Amino acid sequence: MSGLLTSSIARKVVMALSGIFLVFFLGQHFVINITSVIAPNTFNSWSHFMGYNPLVQYLLQPILIAGVVVHFAMGIALEIQNTRARTVKYAKYKGSANASWISRNMIITGLVVLAFLGLHMYDFWIHEMAYKYIEANPEDPTRYYEETVEKFEPLVRTVIYVASFGLLALHLLHGFASSFQTMGINNKYSPAIQTFTKIYAIGIPLGFAFIAIYHHLNPITH
Ligand code: HEM
Repeated sequence: MSGLLTSSIARKVVMALSGIFLVFFLGQHFVINITSVIAPNTFNSWSHFMGYNPLVQYLLQPILIAGVVVHFAMGIALEIQNTRARTVKYAKYKGSANASWISRNMIITGLVVLAFLGLHMYDFWIHEMAYKYIEANPEDPTRYYEETVEKFEPLVRTVIYVASFGLLALHLLHGFASSFQTMGINNKYSPAIQTFTKIYAIGIPLGFAFIAIYHHLNPITH
């Protein structure tokens, strides 16, 4: 058993599985958020459901947090392991000659996404936890739309969000595609899977950017 989680391949499998899980989260998060543009009432009721359903709050939310922590911790561990190995093995390492910029810089794009998550949790999640569990406000299923649109009033926040989505796209472009390779999935569907991961990696962050820019350009006027 010893070394099970310290071998490079085991760590990569953990990265792939937690990464696919986070990609799945991102998809459902996008579906909920796009309703803030096309159907504000739906956005309010879905957000309220997610915020008060015990299964979501006490089971899915802790699983999500665990997924982020595992992905981050393993990513750092792999990076350290690879850096050590590189000095020995990659004597002929020639940057882009051996691997693309994106795949060589997963740690950088990953850390930017993590920094974005810090800001994003500060913007939405901490406020939400305080509203519900500290201030113990009564339930108000109509507040989410306004609260979300207001967040994108400052240009600087919108720019930071959109720039982060750009780096998220780069991170997913390599990460999502290579997760299937790590899992050893290699069959006649592989080219289609690769194409799907590329479309997803660009399309979802682009969609998030659209939401942020749309709300910035269409503020709520009282
Ligand atoms: C325009 C883009 C986005 C908007 C408007 C948005 C909005 C929100 C809102 C309203 C919440 C609710 C917090 C709550 O009620 O508990 C939330 C939570 C969250 N968002 Fe986003 N989000 C966006 C993009 C992203 C992206 C790109 C990521 C990941 C890279 C992300 C990760 C998360 C996470 C991890 C949570 C916490 C979920 C939970 O446990 O409640 N979001 N977001």
